[in-house]
Amino acid sequence: MGSEGVILPRHLVLVPCPYQGHINPMLQLGTILHSRGFSISIIHTQFNAPCPRNHPDFNFIAVPDGLPDHLISSGNIPAILLAVNANCHTPLKDRVAQMMQSEKPNGKVSCIIYDEYMYRAESVAYSLRIPSIMLRTNTVSTFLARDFVLRLIDQGQIPLQGSIMEKPVPEHYPLRYKDLPTTIFKSLNNFVEVVKNVRLVGSSSAVIWNTVDCLENPLLGQVKQQCRVPIFTVGPMHKSAPQLSTSLLKEDYSCIPWLDKQAENSVIYVSLGSVACISEHELAEMAWGLAKCNLPFLWVVRPGLVRGTRNVQQSLPNGFKEGVGERGRIVEWAPQEEVLAHKAVAGFWSHCGWNSAVESIAEGVPLICRPNFADQKVTARYVTHVWRVGMQLEEELERDAVAAAVRRLMVEEEGIEMRERAVELKGRVEIGTRRGGSSFKDLDRLVDMMRSF
Ligand code: UDX
Repeated sequence: MGSEGVILPRHLVLVPCPYQGHINPMLQLGTILHSRGFSISIIHTQFNAPCPRNHPDFNFIAVPDGLPDHLISSGNIPAILLAVNANCHTPLKDRVAQMMQSEKPNGKVSCIIYDEYMYRAESVAYSLRIPSIMLRTNTVSTFLARDFVLRLIDQGQIPLQGSIMEKPVPEHYPLRYKDLPTTIFKSLNNFVEVVKNVRLVGSSSAVIWNTVDCLENPLLGQVKQQCRVPIFTVGPMHKSAPQLSTSLLKEDYSCIPWLDKQAENSVIYVSLGSVACISEHELAEMAWGLAKCNLPFLWVVRPGLVRGTRNVQQSLPNGFKEGVGERGRIVEWAPQEEVLAHKAVAGFWSHCGWNSAVESIAEGVPLICRPNFADQKVTARYVTHVWRVGMQLEEELERDAVAAAVRRLMVEEEGIEMRERAVELKGRVEIGTRRGGSSFKDLDRLVDMMRSF
């Protein structure tokens, strides 16, 4: 309460992990909480700093992350995350401690919400006696699969090799050993350290999960029973937050008028997210496969998609663009939520990062899954075997296989059935986010808890 009896907004500090797939849900959460009357500060790294322009109501504060260029360009995510946590701990603590000295009526911080990968923020909150809440931006199935991987590591079974890869993992249907979220990066030690830290809730008062009950029960029930703090499943958050750009790259909106010109349910959208990389040969096979499928396509070819080159557009095979002409549209970065919601889009070829998968599910768009690493393999199996709204392209990327997979999803009976199931699933997810739905109610409970701090 303010001095004149006015209720002042409580001040939250949000600490996102510096990758697109993590920045998006954290900023969506900030937007939702701001609309519920909280004031929001985002404390972020200099590396992959979010753009403040689209969020004038938030206070953005960069802290030095001390990441050397060679580490950033190595793309070694576990090593980068370890360095970010180690290097940002003190500047984060100093910054929040300063806020706690504030004389402004809403200057003091009432809670720190941190991405699970920014786990050192929990110890900052603890040492400053501020409540904290963890945000998990992934699925419950990935969380459980990661736990299982830790057990295998303890038993000395990782790296997995040979025929076991094809076998199902007992108690983790529908995963096979090869779908487990193990590391593709050199050091197993770095991976283990990150994953062990990410598991721990520590002194946090609750966990927010960007998932929705109807997709993840009964696993969710199991995890809720084991967790000593409340879990709030409030996803998919992009459906509860107004569409504000959270992109690190500039979206190319010219694809929307192009989509407007395409027939309803005719376009395949292709994007491998913000981190996944492919070889130049794979890029060429994708290109010729999309040319051969003879259907309209919108393809995100972002800088860095091809290993070892920034100017990826130049890596496209000669004659490809001219050959497909207006039937194909290539952009460096798309306004993905709008694209998936467009009536022309009937399928999504995705790497199955959780944001992409849930954005597709929320629009009733079935998927071709081409996971690259980590959680993407788990999500791909859930898309294909549990929710049954997609199929996985497992074979080597080869133009005929690409063209056949796209046609299977887009025009064949099997794909049409997947689309029907996807539309039905979209309806169930929508119910979750509507007033009275599971995510809506959990959001109310979360807000009540934070108002009580
Ligand atoms: C990473 C990991 O790869 C992923 O597995 C994990 O679940 C989250 O962190 P990323 O690869 O970027 O994320 O995938 P994803 O989770 O799908 O997030 C990408 C985000 O970028 C989505 O919200 C998507 O809408 C957005 N995007 C993608 C665009 O806005 N435009 C594009 O052209 C492509």
